[in-house]
Amino acid sequence: MQRAYAHHIRAMRPDDLDAILAVQAACYPPAMQEAAEVLLARMRAAGETCVIVEDGEGLCGYLFACPSRRGHVTPLGAEFDAAPDADTLYLHDLALAPRAHGRGLARWLVGHLLAQAREQGLNASALVSVQDTAGFWTALGYEAAGTSCPEARAALASYAGGARYMVSVLTAPGAPSQSC
Ligand SMILES: CC(C)(COP(=O)(O)OP(=O)(O)OC[C@H]1O[C@@H](n2cnc3c(N)ncnc32)[C@H](O)[C@@H]1OP(=O)(O)O)[C@@H](O)C(=O)NCCC(=O)NCCS
Repeated sequence: MQRAYAHHIRAMRPDDLDAILAVQAACYPPAMQEAAEVLLARMRAAGETCVIVEDGEGLCGYLFACPSRRGHVTPLGAEFDAAPDADTLYLHDLALAPRAHGRGLARWLVGHLLAQAREQGLNASALVSVQDTAGFWTALGYEAAGTSCPEARAALASYAGGARYMVSVLTAPGAPSQSC
Protein backbone atom coordinates (compact mmCIF):
# COMPACT_ATOMS: atom_id res chain seq x y z
CA MET A 1 0.00 0.00 0.00
CA GLN A 2 1.22 3.52 -0.86
CA ARG A 3 1.41 5.66 2.30
CA ALA A 4 1.31 9.48 2.26
CA TYR A 5 3.25 9.62 5.56
CA ALA A 6 6.51 8.09 6.73
CA HIS A 7 5.74 5.39 9.27
CA HIS A 8 7.97 3.25 11.41
CA ILE A 9 7.33 0.15 13.55
CA ARG A 10 9.57 -0.48 16.54
CA ALA A 11 9.60 -2.29 19.88
CA MET A 12 7.62 -0.62 22.65
CA ARG A 13 9.57 1.17 25.41
CA PRO A 14 8.53 2.24 28.91
CA ASP A 15 8.85 5.90 27.89
CA ASP A 16 6.07 5.30 25.30
CA LEU A 17 3.62 4.85 28.15
CA ASP A 18 2.01 8.33 28.12
CA ALA A 19 1.45 8.23 24.35
CA ILE A 20 0.03 4.69 24.59
CA LEU A 21 -2.36 5.78 27.35
CA ALA A 22 -3.50 8.70 25.16
CA VAL A 23 -4.28 6.35 22.25
CA GLN A 24 -6.05 3.95 24.62
CA ALA A 25 -8.17 6.79 26.02
CA ALA A 26 -9.14 7.87 22.50
CA CYS A 27 -10.09 4.33 21.46
CA TYR A 28 -11.86 2.74 24.44
CA PRO A 29 -14.55 3.69 26.96
CA PRO A 30 -13.31 4.06 30.57
CA ALA A 31 -14.48 0.55 31.55
CA MET A 32 -12.20 -0.99 28.91
CA GLN A 33 -9.09 1.05 29.69
CA GLU A 34 -6.25 -0.84 31.36
CA ALA A 35 -3.95 0.46 34.10
CA ALA A 36 -0.51 1.94 33.38
CA GLU A 37 1.21 -0.59 35.70
CA VAL A 38 -0.31 -3.50 33.79
CA LEU A 39 0.86 -2.07 30.46
CA LEU A 40 4.40 -1.69 31.83
CA ALA A 41 4.33 -5.25 33.19
CA ARG A 42 3.30 -6.53 29.75
CA MET A 43 6.23 -4.72 28.12
CA ARG A 44 8.56 -6.43 30.60
CA ALA A 45 6.95 -9.85 30.11
CA ALA A 46 6.73 -9.80 26.31
CA GLY A 47 9.11 -7.14 25.00
CA GLU A 48 9.57 -8.80 21.59
CA THR A 49 5.86 -8.86 20.82
CA CYS A 50 4.78 -5.43 22.03
CA VAL A 51 5.27 -2.91 19.22
CA ILE A 52 4.27 0.62 18.29
CA VAL A 53 3.99 2.56 15.04
CA GLU A 54 5.04 6.18 14.66
CA ASP A 55 4.19 8.87 12.14
CA GLY A 56 5.59 12.40 11.80
CA GLU A 57 3.72 13.44 14.96
CA GLY A 58 4.97 10.56 17.12
CA LEU A 59 3.38 7.36 18.39
CA CYS A 60 0.09 6.76 16.57
CA GLY A 61 -0.69 3.11 17.32
CA TYR A 62 0.28 0.08 19.34
CA LEU A 63 -0.10 -3.68 19.52
CA PHE A 64 0.35 -5.64 22.75
CA ALA A 65 0.84 -9.37 22.10
CA CYS A 66 2.50 -12.33 23.79
CA PRO A 67 3.49 -15.94 23.07
CA SER A 68 0.68 -18.05 24.46
CA ARG A 69 -1.26 -21.31 24.16
CA ARG A 70 -4.18 -21.82 21.84
CA GLY A 71 -7.42 -21.49 23.80
CA HIS A 72 -5.91 -19.17 26.40
CA VAL A 73 -7.49 -15.74 26.92
CA THR A 74 -5.90 -12.88 28.89
CA PRO A 75 -8.61 -11.24 31.03
CA LEU A 76 -9.13 -7.50 30.65
CA GLY A 77 -6.70 -5.70 32.96
CA ALA A 78 -4.53 -8.76 33.70
CA GLU A 79 -0.81 -9.18 33.16
CA PHE A 80 0.45 -11.62 30.52
CA ASP A 81 1.07 -15.21 31.62
CA ALA A 82 4.43 -16.53 30.51
CA ALA A 83 3.96 -19.57 28.23
CA PRO A 84 7.27 -21.41 27.88
CA ASP A 85 5.53 -24.00 25.67
CA ALA A 86 3.86 -21.38 23.44
CA ASP A 87 2.19 -22.46 20.21
CA THR A 88 0.17 -19.31 19.56
CA LEU A 89 0.72 -15.58 19.23
CA TYR A 90 -2.00 -13.95 21.33
CA LEU A 91 -2.90 -10.42 20.21
CA HIS A 92 -4.21 -8.66 23.29
CA ASP A 93 -4.74 -5.07 22.21
CA LEU A 94 -4.43 -3.28 18.88
CA ALA A 95 -5.33 0.41 18.71
CA LEU A 96 -4.64 3.29 16.34
CA ALA A 97 -4.99 6.97 17.18
CA PRO A 98 -8.02 8.41 15.36
CA ARG A 99 -5.72 10.58 13.20
CA ALA A 100 -4.09 7.39 11.84
CA HIS A 101 -7.20 5.34 11.06
CA GLY A 102 -7.57 4.08 7.51
CA ARG A 103 -3.87 4.20 6.61
CA GLY A 104 -3.42 0.42 6.67
CA LEU A 105 -1.33 0.64 9.84
CA ALA A 106 -3.40 -1.80 11.89
CA ARG A 107 -2.99 -4.45 9.20
CA TRP A 108 0.74 -3.62 8.99
CA LEU A 109 1.28 -4.01 12.76
CA VAL A 110 -0.50 -7.37 12.77
CA GLY A 111 1.39 -8.58 9.69
CA HIS A 112 4.68 -7.55 11.29
CA LEU A 113 4.09 -9.72 14.37
CA LEU A 114 2.59 -12.62 12.40
CA ALA A 115 5.71 -12.79 10.21
CA GLN A 116 7.82 -12.93 13.38
CA ALA A 117 5.52 -15.63 14.84
CA ARG A 118 5.87 -17.78 11.72
CA GLU A 119 9.67 -17.47 11.89
CA GLN A 120 9.51 -18.65 15.50
CA GLY A 121 7.42 -21.68 14.53
CA LEU A 122 4.20 -20.64 16.24
CA ASN A 123 1.33 -22.28 14.41
CA ALA A 124 -1.62 -20.05 15.31
CA SER A 125 -2.61 -16.58 16.37
CA ALA A 126 -5.60 -15.79 18.58
CA LEU A 127 -7.38 -12.78 20.05
CA VAL A 128 -10.56 -11.43 21.54
CA SER A 129 -12.42 -9.18 19.11
CA VAL A 130 -14.23 -6.27 20.77
CA GLN A 131 -15.97 -3.09 19.62
CA ASP A 132 -17.45 -4.61 16.47
CA THR A 133 -14.10 -5.49 14.90
CA ALA A 134 -14.84 -9.10 13.89
CA GLY A 135 -15.05 -8.02 10.23
CA PHE A 136 -11.60 -6.45 10.45
CA TRP A 137 -10.13 -9.64 11.91
CA THR A 138 -11.95 -11.90 9.44
CA ALA A 139 -10.36 -9.95 6.59
CA LEU A 140 -6.96 -10.72 8.17
CA GLY A 141 -7.70 -14.47 8.24
CA TYR A 142 -9.13 -14.95 11.76
CA GLU A 143 -12.27 -17.01 12.42
CA ALA A 144 -14.53 -17.17 15.45
CA ALA A 145 -13.59 -20.18 17.59
CA GLY A 146 -14.83 -21.88 20.73
CA THR A 147 -13.00 -21.80 24.02
CA SER A 148 -13.23 -25.15 25.75
CA CYS A 149 -11.63 -24.38 29.09
CA PRO A 150 -13.52 -22.67 31.94
CA GLU A 151 -10.67 -20.22 32.64
CA ALA A 152 -10.82 -18.96 29.06
CA ARG A 153 -14.59 -18.58 29.19
CA ALA A 154 -14.31 -16.61 32.44
CA ALA A 155 -11.61 -14.42 30.90
CA LEU A 156 -13.79 -13.79 27.84
CA ALA A 157 -16.60 -12.68 30.15
CA SER A 158 -14.36 -9.87 31.47
CA TYR A 159 -14.89 -8.06 28.15
CA ALA A 160 -17.99 -6.13 27.15
CA GLY A 161 -20.84 -7.94 25.39
CA GLY A 162 -20.12 -9.00 21.84
CA ALA A 163 -16.53 -10.03 22.58
CA ARG A 164 -15.51 -12.94 20.37
CA TYR A 165 -12.57 -15.35 20.61
CA MET A 166 -10.97 -15.69 17.16
CA VAL A 167 -8.13 -17.81 15.80
CA SER A 168 -6.00 -17.80 12.66
CA VAL A 169 -4.01 -20.94 11.81
CA LEU A 170 -0.56 -19.92 10.60
CA THR A 171 0.56 -23.32 9.34
CA ALA A 172 -1.70 -25.50 7.22
CA PRO A 173 -1.35 -29.11 8.37
CA GLY A 174 -1.29 -30.39 11.91
CA ALA A 175 -3.31 -27.63 13.56
CA PRO A 176 -2.78 -27.90 17.31
CA SER A 177 -5.44 -29.20 19.62
CA GLN A 178 -7.08 -26.74 21.96
CA SER A 179 -5.42 -26.30 25.31
CA CYS A 180 -5.51 -23.67 28.01
C1 LIG B 1 -9.70 -1.64 14.66
C2 LIG B 1 -8.65 -0.62 14.28
C3 LIG B 1 -7.33 -0.99 14.92
C4 LIG B 1 -8.53 -0.61 12.75
O1 LIG B 1 -7.65 0.42 12.39
P1 LIG B 1 -7.62 1.00 10.90
O2 LIG B 1 -6.64 2.10 10.90
O3 LIG B 1 -8.99 1.25 10.41
O4 LIG B 1 -7.07 -0.27 10.13
P2 LIG B 1 -6.44 -0.38 8.67
O5 LIG B 1 -6.37 0.98 8.04
O6 LIG B 1 -5.21 -1.19 8.76
O7 LIG B 1 -7.62 -1.19 7.93
C5 LIG B 1 -7.45 -2.41 7.32
C6 LIG B 1 -8.79 -2.83 6.73
O8 LIG B 1 -9.75 -3.14 7.77
C7 LIG B 1 -10.97 -2.43 7.55
N1 LIG B 1 -11.57 -2.15 8.87
C8 LIG B 1 -11.13 -1.29 9.80
N2 LIG B 1 -11.92 -1.34 10.90
C9 LIG B 1 -12.88 -2.27 10.63
C10 LIG B 1 -14.00 -2.77 11.38
N3 LIG B 1 -14.28 -2.34 12.62
N4 LIG B 1 -14.76 -3.73 10.79
C11 LIG B 1 -14.49 -4.18 9.54
N5 LIG B 1 -13.44 -3.74 8.80
C12 LIG B 1 -12.66 -2.79 9.34
C13 LIG B 1 -10.53 -1.19 6.82
O9 LIG B 1 -11.60 -0.61 6.12
C14 LIG B 1 -9.46 -1.76 5.89
O10 LIG B 1 -10.10 -2.41 4.81
P3 LIG B 1 -9.52 -2.31 3.30
O11 LIG B 1 -8.19 -3.00 3.33
O12 LIG B 1 -10.54 -3.04 2.49
O13 LIG B 1 -9.40 -0.85 3.00
C15 LIG B 1 -9.06 0.83 14.73
O14 LIG B 1 -10.36 1.09 14.26
C16 LIG B 1 -9.01 1.07 16.20
O15 LIG B 1 -7.98 1.46 16.75
N6 LIG B 1 -10.15 0.85 16.90
C17 LIG B 1 -10.24 1.10 18.34
C18 LIG B 1 -9.54 0.03 19.15
C19 LIG B 1 -10.14 -1.33 18.89
O16 LIG B 1 -11.34 -1.55 18.95
N7 LIG B 1 -9.23 -2.28 18.61
C20 LIG B 1 -9.60 -3.66 18.28
C21 LIG B 1 -9.51 -4.50 19.47
S1 LIG B 1 -9.97 -6.20 19.11
